[in-house]
This record gives sequence, structure tokens and C-alpha cells, in this order.
Amino acid sequence: MKKIDSKEFNFTRREFQMGALAAGLLAALPSWARAGEAKSTSGAESLRAHAAARGLLYGIAVNPALLDVEGVANGRSGDGYTRLIREQANIMVAENAMKWEALRPSASVFDFTLADRLMRFAGLTGQLVRGHNLCWHADNPDWLKTEATKDNARLLLTQHIEAVAGRYRGRLHSWDVVNEAILGKDGRPDHLRKSLWVELIGPEYIDLAFQTAARVDPQVKLTYNDYDIELDTPEHKEKREHVLQLLRGMKARGVPIHALGVQSHIGTDPDQKYTGLVELIRACGQMGLEVYLTEMDLNTAKIPGGNDAQDAAVAQTCRNYLGAVLAEPNVKAALTWGIDYSMSWLNKAKFDWATRPDGALLRCLPFDDDHQPLPAFFAIREALDRAPAHRA
Ligand code: XIL
Repeated sequence: MKKIDSKEFNFTRREFQMGALAAGLLAALPSWARAGEAKSTSGAESLRAHAAARGLLYGIAVNPALLDVEGVANGRSGDGYTRLIREQANIMVAENAMKWEALRPSASVFDFTLADRLMRFAGLTGQLVRGHNLCWHADNPDWLKTEATKDNARLLLTQHIEAVAGRYRGRLHSWDVVNEAILGKDGRPDHLRKSLWVELIGPEYIDLAFQTAARVDPQVKLTYNDYDIELDTPEHKEKREHVLQLLRGMKARGVPIHALGVQSHIGTDPDQKYTGLVELIRACGQMGLEVYLTEMDLNTAKIPGGNDAQDAAVAQTCRNYLGAVLAEPNVKAALTWGIDYSMSWLNKAKFDWATRPDGALLRCLPFDDDHQPLPAFFAIREALDRAPAHRA
């Protein structure tokens, strides 16, 4: 049974009280003025409240630079973005601010400004935070690529984890300790990606990262995070097998690991059943691992039609995907990679695979840029409501 953090509970209770107050006020209004009632998305009608009612966490990847921390510290609710993050998420993760590239401007300098800003905000609002990430092949500073050698790589990795996980020790819900370590097409017999870490340290870099994180912060849930493991396609099936092999190996070696992060950057194919992913989640459950959906967004690059067609496809996928996955009791959290679609990395990066032929932005997240809910919001909320309550 999940014990709800007391700060989270207080905040949720306050939300419920505010919801009840709002409902009372609404009931006193004439019917023409109550048109918005059914579409309420805040307080007791927020994603975080509906998730909490099921013992689940709903979360959002945020840019701490955009959070109005001073406003909130001074008792204000902040701008639209700040209000939305606070209102909808029980858990946040920094989209970029805790990566090596953000934290390590040079080998000898740590810059915790943005990461600390997120932690300060979370301290004020009582929201939980995930750490992302301690070890990855991407978003590393340029100096790392030139300065890391076979002789110093172990030290660089362990010192980074000691400094970063040490700074936030006891204050995070979970850490993505290693991100995206599997890539079969790189051709290694162990299916590991040819990252700088594997090339300089060898495959044991993964165990080293987890062991170091566990030593530094014995409370935080240590997570292995990866993508392309969600769909019932041959490629995703193969990658799931490799991920499972990695997790089983770690457990057999006694390496401290507590969760699998399933990134959930998925398309909107209505025929997907996510059967293989559910099997992987159950296999994780048998090993005592929790599962978090860590970076969900829905790529509509291939959906013909206009905004309504995109919105319908995204909502349908949220229903199908979360319906399948949240039914599993070891799935404890679902986070979207952003909240308003115009700010999504998919729309900013202009990848070929995330660009629509009509040039329109992908409506890949639950809110629009006016902070109005899209059909995906209601689909996510319904899926949370349908999740079994035995977690609570
Ligand atoms: C992305 C961010 O959203 C972008 O802003 C950044 O430029 C690149 O990284 N998998 C991950 C995330 O684990 O860290 C990535 O985030 C998206 C894919």
C-alpha cells in the first residue's frame, strides 16, 4: 500500500477544499453562468487529484527557468505556466536542468542554479521531484568528450554522481541513474549502446553508476530509463528482451535498482495493444521493480487532417495506452514530457519523424498554449479514474 507523503496529502486536501468551495459557488450561479462546470480542470478535477485518488502520481517535465518561484514564495499563484504545473502535477522532473550539460559548464565547475530552483519550487509547493539523469550518452558538455579517458572515466562518473545525487540526497522521489543504455543496432553482443561510458569504462559502468547512487542516497528509487519498448512491433519486442536481460543481470548481481522508466514517446497508432509492454511490466513486478511512465508524449506526425483529427488520435492513444499500462499495480507514476504542446521538444527540434507534412505543430500534450485542456487531458483523467484503486 502506498503511503501518501504528508505534504502531498495536505496539498491535495487543500485542493479538494478549494474544489468543494468552487462547486458551492458554482451551484449558486444561474445555469447560463455554469457552462464551464463540466470542464473544470483544477482542484479536485486536476490530473494530480485524480491520480492521487488512485494512489498514483501524475507528473510533468518542467523548465525551472520558467517557474515563478519568487511569486510563489511571496504567496502569489504565479503566471499561467507556474499555476498549471502546480495545479496538475504531484511530481515534476527537470526536462534538461539536471543533465550533465546543464550542471557541468566545465570539468571543475558545477552550476546548480536551475536544478536548485526546481527544488526550491517543490519545497514551496510540496510537489515531488524525479531526478533526470546521472549518466547518458547525450546532452553531455563538450569538454567531457575531450577530457574523459580510459584512465579517468570511472572517477569522472563517480564524482559526478557523488556531487549531484549527494546535493539532493533524501529529497528526490527517484533518479534516472542510467538513461538509454541499450541499442541493439550498435552491434555489441551485450546489446549495449556504444556510448562514451561503455567505451571508456566497459559494460560495468551501469553497475558502477547504480552502486554509487545507492551509496550516496540510500532512499531514492534508482531507475533505469529507456525508449522504444512500448509497442507490439518486432523492433520494440527485441529491445524489451534486451532491457529485461539487463535488469535481470543487475538483480542477479545484487546491483541496487528499484524501477524501470518507460519513456513513452509513442505514436498514435489505434491498433496498438501494448501487450508486450504489459508483459515486461509484469516481469518487472516479479523482480520487485516499480515502473514509471517517464516522458509521455504522442507523436501525430502521420495523422492526416486538422487539429480535431490530431486531438482525437492523441486522446484515443492516451486511453488505450494508459488503460493497458495503469491496470498493472507496479506502475506508480505517469509523467508527460511537458504540458503545453507548443513547448514540446518534438515541436522545437523539428525531427523528420516528428514533423507534419502540413507544417502544423504536433498537438502531443494535454494542454494548448493558452493553458486550455485538450481532449487528451480528459482522456488521461478518465484513464487515471479507471486504474485499479488497490494502490491507494
Ligand atoms: C530532450 C529535451 O526535451 C530537449 O529539450 C533537449 O534538447 C534534448 O533532450 N529522452 C530523454 C530526454 O531521456 O532527456 C530527452 O529530452 C528526450 C528523449
